Amino acid sequence: MKESKLWLESVVFSFFILVLFLVYTISFYQKHDLYIWNKIFANTSVILISLSMGIRSFAYYIKGLNSFIIYRKYLGLIGFYFILIHGVIIFIMQNRYPFPVYFLQSETIVPFILALISTFIFVIVAVASHNYVRSKLNILTWRKIMRLGHIALVFGLLHFAVKSSILWTDWFKAFFPLYPPPSLIAFFVGLITIAFRISLNFDKTIIDNEVIENE
Ligand code: HEM
Repeated sequence: MKESKLWLESVVFSFFILVLFLVYTISFYQKHDLYIWNKIFANTSVILISLSMGIRSFAYYIKGLNSFIIYRKYLGLIGFYFILIHGVIIFIMQNRYPFPVYFLQSETIVPFILALISTFIFVIVAVASHNYVRSKLNILTWRKIMRLGHIALVFGLLHFAVKSSILWTDWFKAFFPLYPPPSLIAFFVGLITIAFRISLNFDKTIIDNEVIENE
């Protein structure tokens, strides 16, 4: 399939997920401003990146998903651009997140460092996913770089779990409002993605097949 078509379909799909999070997040917080848009982009990025990274593992269990593996790169890159938008919004909102004071407090420094590590690894993965860079790299090296994405996702999940855990605990105590915080949904999708990837590690044939694919 032509790359432009894959891009277009991935953009349409990502837009759909963005709209779902838009509606859900506005209903959850009952407001609509830049602070909310930041959450919408941040959570949508986690969903898109998780789908991009998880699709291969999901397809291992549900064969019908094999045809979606071709969208991996595009969903991952759009998710990455959404992370960048999330980062830019944070730095625009100087009233709420004054730089560097906000990030140097005892409760924010760890999430900030985790965010920086995650973003840094995602930059490497995004650059390596470019066709030109990919063509210059040995396929085994390229695959190793792509796998770093899972580590970046883990850092990303920890980054917002640290801060959001109080909100999540409150929700688990009362189940109020009825529906979970958007960040908890994103966290679960990310967690499932990592769990599926780890489960593949237990299947030696997968690892062997990867080596064969590479040859
Ligand atoms: C330079 C990089 C980054 C900075 C400065 C940053 C900063 C922040 C800050 C300050 C918050 C709290 C927002 C709030 O008060 O509502 C936040 C939340 C969040 N961040 Fe990041 N972040 C970065 C990278 C990332 C990355 C790499 C990911 C994902 C892989 C991510 C996903 C999230 C999510 C899902 C939330 C929770 C949104 C919610 O409350 O619904 N961030 N980030």
